[in-house]
Amino acid sequence: MYNSESTREQQRLTTELLKKQSTGSLTKKDIDSLRSALRFHEHRYYILNDPLIADYEYDQLYKAVEKIEQENPSLISSDSPTQRVAKGLTKDFPTVQHLVPMLSLDNSYNADDLNDFDRKAKELTGLSTIEYCVEPKFDGGSISLVYENDLLTRGATRGNGVEGDEVTTNIKQIRSVPLSAKFSSYGLQQVEIRGEVLINKNNFALYNEKLAEQGLTPLANPRNAAAGTLRIKDPNEAAKRNLEAFVYHVSYFSLAKGKKIPAELTTHSGSLAMLWELGFRSPQKEKKVFRGIGAVIKYCNEFEAKRDDLPYEIDGMVIKVNEIELQDKMGMTSHHPRWAIAYKFKARQATTQLLDVEYQVGRTGAVTPVAKLKPVAVGGVTVSSISIHNEEYIKEKDLRIGDAVLIERAGDVIPQIVKSLPDTRTGKEKKIVFPATCPVCNSKLFKEEEEAVWRCINIECPAQVVERIIHFVSKDAMDIRGFGDANVRKFYELGLLKDIPGVYQLDYAKIAKQEGFKERSIENLKSAIEKSIQQPLHRLIYALGIRFVGETTAKTLAQAVNHLFDFKKISLEDLQNLEDIGPKVAGSIHHFFSNKNNIEMLEQLERLGLQLKNQKKEHTAAGSNLQGQTFLFTGTLPTLKRSDAEAMAEANGGQILSGVSTKLNYLVVGEDAGSKLEKAKKINTVRIISEAEFLQIIGKK
Ligand code: IVH
Repeated sequence: MYNSESTREQQRLTTELLKKQSTGSLTKKDIDSLRSALRFHEHRYYILNDPLIADYEYDQLYKAVEKIEQENPSLISSDSPTQRVAKGLTKDFPTVQHLVPMLSLDNSYNADDLNDFDRKAKELTGLSTIEYCVEPKFDGGSISLVYENDLLTRGATRGNGVEGDEVTTNIKQIRSVPLSAKFSSYGLQQVEIRGEVLINKNNFALYNEKLAEQGLTPLANPRNAAAGTLRIKDPNEAAKRNLEAFVYHVSYFSLAKGKKIPAELTTHSGSLAMLWELGFRSPQKEKKVFRGIGAVIKYCNEFEAKRDDLPYEIDGMVIKVNEIELQDKMGMTSHHPRWAIAYKFKARQATTQLLDVEYQVGRTGAVTPVAKLKPVAVGGVTVSSISIHNEEYIKEKDLRIGDAVLIERAGDVIPQIVKSLPDTRTGKEKKIVFPATCPVCNSKLFKEEEEAVWRCINIECPAQVVERIIHFVSKDAMDIRGFGDANVRKFYELGLLKDIPGVYQLDYAKIAKQEGFKERSIENLKSAIEKSIQQPLHRLIYALGIRFVGETTAKTLAQAVNHLFDFKKISLEDLQNLEDIGPKVAGSIHHFFSNKNNIEMLEQLERLGLQLKNQKKEHTAAGSNLQGQTFLFTGTLPTLKRSDAEAMAEANGGQILSGVSTKLNYLVVGEDAGSKLEKAKKINTVRIISEAEFLQIIGKK
C-alpha cells in the first residue's frame, strides 16, 4: 500500500501539516492532504499496528478536517475519515441479498481428515500435487462488504447465507475497514468481499469489566460480543467496542469496461495480497502457500501452538486450493465449497454437570452466584466452578441444579456457561432459588430497580470488609506486594486487621508468631506496605473501591483537585463536568464523600502519612500542555539534571520514552549526545531540540 518512498512522503506531509496546524495557518486548500495523511496514519495504526505519530497529533489533524468540513459543507466526501462517525440511532437493519451466497465450510479435526480432503481434491482435479493456501480461521461474526467504483457502499451480516442484515453504519465504525479502496487500479468496478469482525481479547476483557462494574451481565465470549455489536442500534456505542475486521475472500467482482481479470485474482493468495495492497487487513502475514498436504498439516499444528499468544480468537485454520481455476473446476455442494476446508482446533467447549450454586459477597456487597461443576477439562485447564453472574442470567439460561451444561473457555477469558441442555433432563433437577439474606452476615438483600444484582447493604459485612481490603492492597491499587488475598483473609480472621487503615498499623510481632511467617517475608511485607504510603493520589482513589470508579476515572478525579477532601465540597454538577463522568458515577462519588465514616477513614489514612494531596498538580506550571507528547533526553544538559528534566516533562503531561523510535516526538539533546541523536536524525517526525527550547515549550522561559 505504502512503500518506503510514499511513507517518507506522508511523514514529510504530516510534519508540514502539524506545523501549519500549530501556527493556525491551515486552510481549506489543505483538505486533501489532511485526509490523505489521516488515511495513511489510520493504516499504520489499524492495519500495520505500528503508528508513526502520537494519538494527540492524529486528533489535531482530524479536528482540522472536521473544522474545514464544518465551515465548507460542500467539501464533505463520503469517504472522508470524519464520515465514520454516525449521528442518531439506526432504525432497523433492512434485509439485503448477498451478491453471491455465503457458504459455510466443511470441518476437519485431524490429519486423517485433511489427507482425505487432499485425496478428493486430487481426484476432482486429476492432479498429483495440489497447491494450498492456509490461513487462520477467525472466530468472530462474518460480514460481506460491497465496494462500487472504489467506495464502500454496503456492509452486511451473514444472516442465513443468502440474505443478511444491512449494517453499513456499524461497519463504518471499524477503522480497519477502508471507506474507499482503489479497486479501479485493478480494473474492478464492483467487488464483494468476505471477512470476519472480531473484538480482540484485550478489548473484550475491558468491555466485560465495564459491564460488571455497572452490575450488568458480561458477554460469554468475544465471538458473541463482535457479532452482537454489529447489530447494535447506536453506532456510537458500536464504535466504543473497538471492533476489528479481517477480510479473506473475494466472492464477486465485475470488471470495468475494457479491462481484463487482473493476475492477482487468479490465485487465492494473490487476492489476499491485492486486498492487503488496497489497505485492507487480510491475513497477508499469516497466510502461507504450500504444495502438498503434509506441509499444510505441519503449519496447522504450529499455528495451534501459538493460538493463545494471538491478540484475537481463532478457532482453527482454513485450507483453500490456491488456483481459482481449480476452485471453479471443483465446485461446491449445496452447503460448502469442495475446494476449501476448515481445520478445527481442539474444542474449548465441554459438557459437564451443574452440581450446586454458592453465593459470594464482593466488596460492593454484590452477591454473585457461583456454579459448582463436576470438574471437566476445557482447552487444557480443569474447570470446577464458574461465575453465573446474577439472578437474571440464571433465568435467561434456564439453569437448574443437576443440569447438563455446555461450558466454553475462550482463550485466556474466564470460562462461561454457554447454555444448559434441557433435553437431557431427568426430572430430578432442582430450581435455583436466590437467597433473600446475605450468606455471610445474614442481613436482608436489596436490589435497585434498573440493576440485575442483589446486594448486601451492611457496609460492616465481614465479606465486604475483607474484599475492600483485598482491593485496596491489590496490584493496580496500592500495589502492596506480598499482601495477597490469603494473607488479608487470614489476618482478618485472626483479628489482626479489621479495616483499611489497619493495613498501616499491623502488629508484626503477632504476625511473626503465626505459622508460615518467616522474618524475611515479614520484612518484605513491611517494606512493601511502607513504600505504598507514597503512592500517588489516583492510586489511592482507585484503591478506595468507590463504585463505578475504575482506574481511568480515578485519574480524572485526581487531576481535578488539589486535595482529596476537595470532593467533600464539590457539587454533583461539577463532578459531571469532568471527562467521562455521568450522573451515575457522579452520584456514587458524591455519596462516598458524604459518608462520615469514609471521611474519618481518610483522615486516619492522612495521619498515617498517605498522600491525599495532588502532588503533580503542585509542580505543574501552566497545566498539562504536553498531553500526549513523547520525550527523550540524551547527553549532558547544560543546567538540568536528566531526572529533573524528565519529571518536568511528565508534570506537564508528557511521556518519557526509553529509546528513539517513530513514536518519539521530541529528543532533547545536551552535550556529547551519541547514537540516539544519530538515530533520531533519520526519522523526520522526531523534533530535535535543546534544553532551552524544552524549557520554552513547558513555559519556563
Ligand atoms: S472462507 C467460500 N476463510 O468460517 C469461502 N472463512 O465455517 C467461505 N471464517 O462462514 C469462507 N475465517 O465466517 C473463510 N480465513 C477464513 C475464515 C472463514 C473465519 C468463517 C466464515 C465462514 C465460517 C465457516
